[in-house]
Amino acid sequence: MKRMLSGVKPSGRLTLGNYIGAIRHFVSYQEDYELFIFIANMHAITVQNDPQELKKNTRDLIALYMACGLDPEKTTLFLQSDLPQHTELGWILTCHSYMGELQRMTQYKDKCAKQETGITAGLFTYPALMAADILMYDADYVPVGVDQKQHVELARNLAERFNHRYGDTFIVPEPVVAEVGAKIMSLQNPTKKMSKSENNPKGTIDLLDEPSVARKKIMSAITDSLGIIQYDPENQPGLANLLTILSSLTNESIDSIVKRYQGKGYGDLKKEVGQAVYDFLSELQVKYQAIIASGKIDEIIQNGNEKAGKIAYKKVAKVKRKLGLSIQKR
Ligand code: AMP
Ligand code: TRP
Repeated sequence: MKRMLSGVKPSGRLTLGNYIGAIRHFVSYQEDYELFIFIANMHAITVQNDPQELKKNTRDLIALYMACGLDPEKTTLFLQSDLPQHTELGWILTCHSYMGELQRMTQYKDKCAKQETGITAGLFTYPALMAADILMYDADYVPVGVDQKQHVELARNLAERFNHRYGDTFIVPEPVVAEVGAKIMSLQNPTKKMSKSENNPKGTIDLLDEPSVARKKIMSAITDSLGIIQYDPENQPGLANLLTILSSLTNESIDSIVKRYQGKGYGDLKKEVGQAVYDFLSELQVKYQAIIASGKIDEIIQNGNEKAGKIAYKKVAKVKRKLGLSIQKR
């Protein structure tokens, strides 16, 4: 069975974009792959966090992953910060990354272009830590949203570079970017990604939003004045986004939805999308509450950490031997 690995940062609440672009796919992959999913909390501290909030977000994230359908019996769910090997290998790979390579990462460049203040060195080097997360487990595939593809490509380059210099050590991973729903857009500004960090809450649907509030957000989503229902992300990005959301939540193809809506208005479509989102969130939140109430989160993470930890321990030991960091004869 091929191995697949991915992670999500517990920075802020999870959005419908995270679900459609990432978590939904993880759930379907757990049947056919050996799946490792982890909470990338060491990545969350590249920006400043309130400790209490980080803790709550992390627990919520684990509960939401499971509520979305990740089954700890099938998937290894673990917490990055509990396994020190991640930062260890992260440092080693930082030392194998070139400044120019990291400077070319668009996510970092975007932050600099926006002249955000307080950009930490961690934010600059984090793609090397992400490469460590991936290469540690010999992942064959890494499902991510389009915005993360470049980071997986860096992981590939680092794996090849390391293997070339020191002999076969890492599997060279492939990014997997789902086509439909790879990028869910803000409901208020449909040329921008729906994001936890967006400052307009009307543009973003949180997985823990009150379902009726989420429905209202869909009803007031920005569309266009053409009045024709067709899938044209370039000229009708708001409408295309609504079609993508509906298609992702109901598994009906966009073509088929568009056919059903010939001669109908945006209002009707919004009602259906709003109801689909409402139903989805209602069901999800019932499961989420049950998981929180069960008190099983700690045990699940401990089991996952143990399983992942064994692999991580072996991999880092191997890497240290290859690098000449371990001096013991064996
Ligand atoms: P982040 O929220 O940036 O930590 O991303 C976690 C995962 O969700 C990554 O694989 C992202 O690419 C994906 N993701 C985040 N926001 C969206 C979005 N609006 N549409 C599609 N995928 C997303
Ligand atoms: N950097 C990713 C994000 O911001 C999260 C992440 C960290 C990740 N390590 C990873 C994703 C390894 C896939 C594989 O979304």
